[in-house]
Amino acid sequence: MYRIAIIGAGELGSRHLQGVMKMNIPVSVEVVDPFPASLERARLRAQEIPANPNILQTVYIPSVGQLSDKIDLCIVATSSDVRMQVLQELLSTKKVKYLVLEKILFRYLSEYATAEALLNKTNTPAWVNCSKRTVSVYRTIRESVTPGEKLVVTATGGNWGLACNGIHYLDTMAYLNGDTDFTVDTSHVEKIIDSKRKGFSEITGSLIARQQNGSVLFLHASEQGDADIIHTITSEKYRWQVNESQGTFSVAAASAGWVSEHSTFHMPYQSELSTGLCEEILLTGTSGLPDYDTSAKLHCSYISALLKVFYGSNVDDSAACPIT
Ligand SMILES: NC(=O)c1ccc[n+]([C@@H]2O[C@H](COP(=O)([O-])OP(=O)(O)OC[C@H]3O[C@@H](n4cnc5c(N)ncnc54)[C@H](O)[C@@H]3O)[C@@H](O)[C@H]2O)c1
Repeated sequence: MYRIAIIGAGELGSRHLQGVMKMNIPVSVEVVDPFPASLERARLRAQEIPANPNILQTVYIPSVGQLSDKIDLCIVATSSDVRMQVLQELLSTKKVKYLVLEKILFRYLSEYATAEALLNKTNTPAWVNCSKRTVSVYRTIRESVTPGEKLVVTATGGNWGLACNGIHYLDTMAYLNGDTDFTVDTSHVEKIIDSKRKGFSEITGSLIARQQNGSVLFLHASEQGDADIIHTITSEKYRWQVNESQGTFSVAAASAGWVSEHSTFHMPYQSELSTGLCEEILLTGTSGLPDYDTSAKLHCSYISALLKVFYGSNVDDSAACPIT
């Protein structure tokens, strides 16, 4: 039997829980959240999943201190503001074999090195939940991209939470051509607005991230409207277009005169992804998610650029980036 912990049982944590409740190997599940309403909602969402004999026990507790001393896999799905504090308490008091951390990892740049040192000291492999790279369409696209290849990528839509979700597109591009070095240009950000998550901020307008080989990632969120995000990836030989909301995918190849071929796919929910994610980590010790070091590098380029948006160009590295 494996012990799985989920810390932070909010919107996303409760979806991870639903995924865990479908696991095909015997597990005991511990869910931590200091807010009774979150624990209650998580309990209700867990009950939506048909009874599964592999779920040997599920406990709902208010603090990390009440977790079992040994945990095989822990998912930290709190918001970014408390993630470091949770991680420190967890790794200093419990023995954790594997970790999955939600994005945005941390608000302070200094916390990235602190977390790296902590993970190394405790010898804990960790991955970050930027999951597009585990989804079939992106894996298929990658088969036709060569390492280091120049790509032009766009993701444009309505008010889709550019600041907190932009990291997914950096991660996907890094996954496709293997280049994790980005310079992020924030000069076309239009507005700072309140995030739908209380206490955090969002932006509208454009972010442009560049790689040294000339690749460009252009992200745009309008202030108004809820238009689907259209994600296009163009290389010298192909143009792919993905609409995750509609589950539509097209590919046009230079060799076929750039005529688009259309198909459909299912973009899995977190409650579908977490089942296989946890099984893979527990059974093989590996994951398709980016490892901590890869994702921390992407986060640091991203967060240091966004700090200038929120605090001006003279900001120093000690400011908190108000995104989650
Ligand atoms: N990877 C993805 O695709 C994806 C998608 C959605 C959200 N997220 C990320 O997941 C995180 C959570 O988002 P959400 O929408 O679930 O937010 P949320 O506010 O619904 O959930 C956060 C939960 O953390 C709990 N919490 C606060 N302090 C805690 C502590 N000390 N210990 C344990 N729990 C604590 C809160 O009570 C709350 O229930 C955010 O960082 C968000 O960006 C990632």
